[in-house]
Amino acid sequence: MFDKSEEAFPAKKNSLFLAHCAISPMALQAKDAARDFLEAMAEGGISGLPPYFNLLPRFHRKCAELFHTDAANISATHNTAEGMCLLANGYPFEPGDEIISYVHEFPSNHYPWRLQERRGVKLLLLGDTDPLGSLSAVTAPRGWSMAELEEKVSPRTRIIALSHVQFTSGYAADLMELGGFCRERGIDLVIDGAQSVGVLPLYPDEYNVAAVAVSCWKWLMGPFGSGLLYTSEEFRDKIELTMVGSSSMQQGLEYLDHSWNPHVDGRKFEYSTLAWEHLAALNGLFDSLFLRYSMEGIREEVFELQDVFLAHLDQDLYTPLLFADEHRSGILAVLPRDADALLVERLARHGIVVTERSGYIRIAPHFYLSPGDMKMAAECFNEEAGKG
Ligand SMILES: Cc1ncc(COP(=O)(O)O)c(C=O)c1O
Repeated sequence: MFDKSEEAFPAKKNSLFLAHCAISPMALQAKDAARDFLEAMAEGGISGLPPYFNLLPRFHRKCAELFHTDAANISATHNTAEGMCLLANGYPFEPGDEIISYVHEFPSNHYPWRLQERRGVKLLLLGDTDPLGSLSAVTAPRGWSMAELEEKVSPRTRIIALSHVQFTSGYAADLMELGGFCRERGIDLVIDGAQSVGVLPLYPDEYNVAAVAVSCWKWLMGPFGSGLLYTSEEFRDKIELTMVGSSSMQQGLEYLDHSWNPHVDGRKFEYSTLAWEHLAALNGLFDSLFLRYSMEGIREEVFELQDVFLAHLDQDLYTPLLFADEHRSGILAVLPRDADALLVERLARHGIVVTERSGYIRIAPHFYLSPGDMKMAAECFNEEAGKG
């Protein structure tokens, strides 16, 4: 059973938080672990830090457990864009090579690939299509199709860069299918996991995913400005270093030994100093939540909470985007029937926190909410509709 208590999730005292696709309330365990580290730092600087020297290796091991992979495949980063830039800028592209992405990707998974145009690389974007066959009237972003992907692939395709879950519509890629497609064609599949890690299972080794870049303050409920990166060994070996610093080399603390001997595991991308309070916070979260519960269990709980919301939502007032199970995610996007610029603000007066992107209101509950919360949220949505 999930811990849904206010003690563990103090944000429940003030609001009904349905915006885990944006910036989540930091879970208590994360806050406490970060505070302990910061206290040690304040009291003694380096002299207080020895108990924390194993934070980073622990972080690698715990993320690896989450991804069902080896600790050597994990790097700590600060955000999704950093991970993507390290990969895109270091990839051994030749002029004329091609990257395929989707027209409505989040900027952190768009600009790093766009930057490669200066190396003579072509960025091809999948158009927006209607994965449901029932959204032809919807002009907001919906998703992309395997059929168009197949058309766009050529012998020059090196990378396919897509989000596991689209940040607008909540459309989830079927990574097993996508990874198989890439394996057959020798293409490297790079995934933006910001909207899935912490709520959907993601096992890159199993799916043939080459890399996953993640922001940890959404579904993982960690500190703002903390990220992580998974790379397979084969993919990592291809990447040239573009960021280097005090942590890049295997000689570690021998700072005046300048021999060129970079790490070959995930530490290859941890070029310099990291925010240890972030690592402490994330390790606390893995122990207390994300390795305590299964990702499959969390996904089911979140889907059930969304189903309660849907059962009580007046669907004459709102159109929900309902995808087949394999394309469902933590984000349930609903389109209000009437445009209403102040709806999010009026819902906030009821204590309901949601975010709007491209016309969708995104319902993004996490496992610690209750069915009663979701019923109450839907009733407020119904009450506030059409008042704009
Ligand atoms: C799909 C996706 N990727 C990445 C991010 C965040 O990127 P970054 O960590 O670079 O700020 C978001 C935030 O909304 C997102 O929705």
